[in-house]
Amino acid sequence: MKFRQALLALAAGAMLAATPVQAAQLSIVSGDTGNGLQVLREILDQFEKKTGNKVNIVPMPSSTTDQFGQYKLWLAAGNSDVDVYQTDVIWAPQLSNQLVDLTEATKDVVAAHFPSIIESQTVNGKLIALPIFTDAPALYYRKDLLDKYGAQVPKTWDEMAKTAKMIMDKEREAGNKDMWGFVFQGNAYEGLTCDALEWIKSNGGGQIIEPDGTISVNNPQAAKALEMAKSWIGTISPPGVLAYQEEESRGVWQTGNAVFMRNWPYAYSLGNGEDSPIKGKFDVAPLPAGSGEGARSAATLGGWNLAVSKYSKNPDVAIELVKWIASPEMQKYRVLKTSNIPTIQALYDDPEIAKAQPIIPRWKEVFLNAVPRPSAPTKVKYNEVSSQFWTAVHKTLSGEGSAADNLADLEVSLTKLQGAGW
Ligand code: GLC
Repeated sequence: MKFRQALLALAAGAMLAATPVQAAQLSIVSGDTGNGLQVLREILDQFEKKTGNKVNIVPMPSSTTDQFGQYKLWLAAGNSDVDVYQTDVIWAPQLSNQLVDLTEATKDVVAAHFPSIIESQTVNGKLIALPIFTDAPALYYRKDLLDKYGAQVPKTWDEMAKTAKMIMDKEREAGNKDMWGFVFQGNAYEGLTCDALEWIKSNGGGQIIEPDGTISVNNPQAAKALEMAKSWIGTISPPGVLAYQEEESRGVWQTGNAVFMRNWPYAYSLGNGEDSPIKGKFDVAPLPAGSGEGARSAATLGGWNLAVSKYSKNPDVAIELVKWIASPEMQKYRVLKTSNIPTIQALYDDPEIAKAQPIIPRWKEVFLNAVPRPSAPTKVKYNEVSSQFWTAVHKTLSGEGSAADNLADLEVSLTKLQGAGW
């Protein structure tokens, strides 16, 4: 008996020694597009192996709007089941009160990231999320089809629409009945705010609300830009585009049924995947410019970060996890598999990345010149601003009222929302 007890004690001791003192069970919540969640799991497996801690993914729908609604509720309720949130670049000012200040814990690593991205996640001097990838969209085009019909890569929206129509018509005549000219994100959600900001900014119509807080969206160039997009619906874009988010657009594009697509860089590696019908048949270019005074190419700045909940029971391990996922090694791992744009400056000179994902070195300039949504000037009211904006745009695209009328109404309601100040 004594011998047995001694053996048991020994076994228990051995188990204790094998288990790291701080072994923790964490949860990270993430909605992502494409293969994002799968790659996150692979990154977490490496963390578990290295540290002995366990991390569970709480999967979310890929719509950032749906995620935001849910996270706000959880945080307001002081939910301690979620330790780490994957956060959109626009959320920092709205969620900052419920997230841990990472400034001190990350001071050894922040300098490796682009300063503008770190700044976008800093609220009142506190770093509230550490970036894991940035985002700036591209015009995806079918190289093979443009070559077949002797067309150039479009530099303006007009050229894009004409080329889209020409190729779509010819392909349909040739029996390719499902072919469309252009797919984008037309659903009533944050993605439409991104797309419509690009149409407006590229036509010299401003940024909805300017960095100084001025509501600028009710202007003739902005109205012209929305009418331009409306003219695509049912002609070069399927009527169903009014319900498309990123993944629906990619679905049409990746099955080979669109000449052009507006989407984020994640679609690049997936389009070139082994099982992709369009592998090797497409390339990317900056989005087209509009026309008139101030016309330029405009890409909306996106991106994702990791934040630690104030209600986490394991904030130290959670911070360690955030630093791991955001590290140069793991950003490299991610970009090789997902073509998400890194936030670590040195990775743009990495030959392995440039070879596997040639979009990356080409996209540095695009994202550095990308247009931010007005989340900084409108602070905690951004979500409401954006939702009023995408609603006005969606109505216009659906034929409910003219762009000019909808923008005039939008200006009235944004002014009310602004009240005494943002
Ligand atoms: C991408 C961007 C994100 C944006 C979202 C809109 O995920 O990175 O910033 O809000 O698209 O759908």
